Amino acid sequence: MIYSFLLSLLFFVLGFGVFANENAELNLARSISDELINSVREVLLKEIQKGGVIGAVQVCSEMSQEIIKKHQQKHNVYIRRISEKYRNKENAPDKYELNILKKLSSMKDIPAEYYEIVQEKDGKYLRYFKTITIQPVCLYCHGKNEIPDDVRNFLKQKYPDDKATGYSVGEIRGAVSIKLKIKDDTRN
Ligand code: HEC
Repeated sequence: MIYSFLLSLLFFVLGFGVFANENAELNLARSISDELINSVREVLLKEIQKGGVIGAVQVCSEMSQEIIKKHQQKHNVYIRRISEKYRNKENAPDKYELNILKKLSSMKDIPAEYYEIVQEKDGKYLRYFKTITIQPVCLYCHGKNEIPDDVRNFLKQKYPDDKATGYSVGEIRGAVSIKLKIKDDTRN
């Protein structure tokens, strides 16, 4: 507790603005988050076609964490999928991320992305969030009555503490959270 309090004292947010020398990190965060979202979506759609929703939910529950890890390793970067109402506790936001998610979900128009520059003791970091919203296809596994019985049963067994149902189209589901060190200002 004390440790995290001291750490949070060390972090202070410099503001919304990203200046010219942070553009490289911002572009990288944008492309990595798109890449992750696309690869998850690709697997999801392919598996629904192949084995219906029940086939897809089994594959997605096995592969999601692996796909994220692959992107972490490929880019050597902090990258996660987070949600206030998470299905897998591996995707639970930390305190900082939770505050950002709360801020995003309270906005009338949910922005496609949000970022801040934060100062930590070893330098400046870009904290980047690409929001994920619910589309019709998501309802098969995150909706209300749309979830087929066999899928509901699978979810109950695999994720007894599942919080990720009851959504409607257009709601914010979560975000891809990326943290990138901002390189020295001395470069060109
Ligand atoms: C076939 C079932 C299925 C469909 C359809 C589906 N999901 Fe999921 N979703 C899952 C499973 C299973 C997990 C847990 C993955 C894990 O273990 O990390 C999950 C987790 C997530 C997470 C990570 C946070 C959490 O709750 O753990 C997000 C974000 C997410 N889904 C968004 C979406 C969106 C957006 C759509 C629609 C485009 C969608 N999902 C469609 C099954 C599904």
